[in-house]
Amino acid sequence: MASVPFDQLDGFIWMNGEFVKWADAKIHVLTHGLHYASAVFEGERAYGGEIFKLTEHTERLHESARILGFKIPFSVAEIDDACRTLLKKQGLADAYVRPIAWRGSEMMGVSAQNNRINCAIAIWQWPSYFDPAQKLKGIRLDMAEYRRPDPRTAPSKSKAAGLYMICTLSKHAAESKGYADALMLDWRGQVAEATGANVFFVKDGVIHTPKPDCFLDGITRRTVIDLAKRRGYEVVERVIMPEEMEGFEQCFLTGTAAEVTPVSEVGPYRFTVGEIAKNLMEDYSAEVQPRHAMAAE
Ligand SMILES: Cc1ncc(COP(=O)(O)O)c(C=O)c1O
Repeated sequence: MASVPFDQLDGFIWMNGEFVKWADAKIHVLTHGLHYASAVFEGERAYGGEIFKLTEHTERLHESARILGFKIPFSVAEIDDACRTLLKKQGLADAYVRPIAWRGSEMMGVSAQNNRINCAIAIWQWPSYFDPAQKLKGIRLDMAEYRRPDPRTAPSKSKAAGLYMICTLSKHAAESKGYADALMLDWRGQVAEATGANVFFVKDGVIHTPKPDCFLDGITRRTVIDLAKRRGYEVVERVIMPEEMEGFEQCFLTGTAAEVTPVSEVGPYRFTVGEIAKNLMEDYSAEVQPRHAMAAE
């Protein structure tokens, strides 16, 4: 399928306080963020013209930057406002929102104390992360070669660009074998998450999910835990060893991009797309709809 390269889409990108034409949103090749991964970003989705949990995402962007030792020169309210204005300017109601902040090009080297902190937001149309037909059948995951690092090795609570190097490697390896994605263990060998989404399992009507102590505690993860509790499901956050997958009946991923995506396979383990996964898929779809749209129904 031929698709338009991302640097050739239409519309505007918000960059350091201004709306610039999409094609003109450029940075210099000697950008610290490019060479040393001193960048943090967010992934958000707009539904029916409203960005779901926008302020939570913007606060996490600020926190990710703080963990990496820099301060974004725009407040949470300013970034929220820029996201909302850009969504309208792009003429989109259902869309993906990508804010990013990075160290600029004033100094070149590991140390970059005086580099300008830049911030940009791009918004584009992006329907489903996984193939929609495959999603209903449950996607297939490989076991990743790389593991989520010890929090003493990398700032695992920051949504930092550098942490995605092992995700891209793992996802590429999985895709080359025909899988949709890969499940990553953590540095201790415990089940952690997929390359861009959190993971849940179901056994005997109870939902089990790993404790997010060395990976992102996703905004979708927390939303889905709330939705599950609202339905009266028991949710247990605990250490999960990979061998336990043998006894789990259902598995699903959660993430802004993935939403709620059932999983049919993880390496040698098999799951069915069961009622709990389906119910939470539905509940999440309803939850992300703007409140005013629901009130008008
Ligand atoms: C590595 C990783 N884990 C988990 C998530 C899920 O986070 P959220 O639900 O906040 O999108 C994401 C997506 O941002 C991710 O990239």
